[in-house]
Amino acid sequence: MANNRLDQVVSTIVEKVRDGVREEKVSYEEYRAAVGYMMKVADAGELALFIDLFLNATMCRVINENAHSKASLQDMEGPYFLDESPMLEDGKMKLMDGYENDEPLIVRGTVRDVDGAAMPGVLVDMWNATPDGKYGGIHEGVPVDHYRGKVRTDENGHFRFESTVPVPYRIKDNGPVGAMLKAMGRHSWRPAHVHIKVRHEGYRDLITQLYFAEGEYVHDDCCEGTVPQEFVFDKVIEDGKRVLETDLFIEKVSEKQAA
Ligand code: BEZ
Ligand code: FE
Repeated sequence: MANNRLDQVVSTIVEKVRDGVREEKVSYEEYRAAVGYMMKVADAGELALFIDLFLNATMCRVINENAHSKASLQDMEGPYFLDESPMLEDGKMKLMDGYENDEPLIVRGTVRDVDGAAMPGVLVDMWNATPDGKYGGIHEGVPVDHYRGKVRTDENGHFRFESTVPVPYRIKDNGPVGAMLKAMGRHSWRPAHVHIKVRHEGYRDLITQLYFAEGEYVHDDCCEGTVPQEFVFDKVIEDGKRVLETDLFIEKVSEKQAA
């Protein structure tokens, strides 16, 4: 009988893994190979990537199943969020020149509570990949303060960012995580997406992603993402700029969640 939360969670997960080992009649060689593999993942600095690849989408499903019915759906944060992103007064992200395929992007909307009331002063973070699939401060050649930033919603709960349209990209696949995907016969592509994180005192963080309806891999994400249909956007162009416009609904942290 578990006597605390940590004991309960770890014991349950370990027991499920043991079930898998029994069910698959895992050999000692396979067990040793798995231990060696996990050591390689750790040595390559890919533990967060490995865990996100297999579990981040499941985490989101658990959160969504227990959320208020009006709250916007959570999606994967992934390993590339950086809290030191710049505060942007005008929502314009720093971008790099020299891409042949860069297409201006406007992401705008309103943060609301689950009753629909607009919420001023809410912190909204956005980060997205470059037109060649890299993240600022993560991949070489893209400065940390580029293609990411924060704004606060105005008195009407509105927010607005300017960036460029991201492309589908492959998660890091030249190390042990990539080798595993390849050996399993799986690809390493994520659909083009924009990451959003909404934070406000007393409210549950909303971490989600916006997708482009016409893009590849939207329903074949290597991370088995949740891809909420409400966040898959048809093509809308205004003054030559692609526009994604959405309401984002956040819910108060319940006493149960806060505990
Ligand atoms: C991402 O979208 O940035 C991401 C999500 C899960 C694993 C790797 C990357
Ligand atoms: Fe991403």
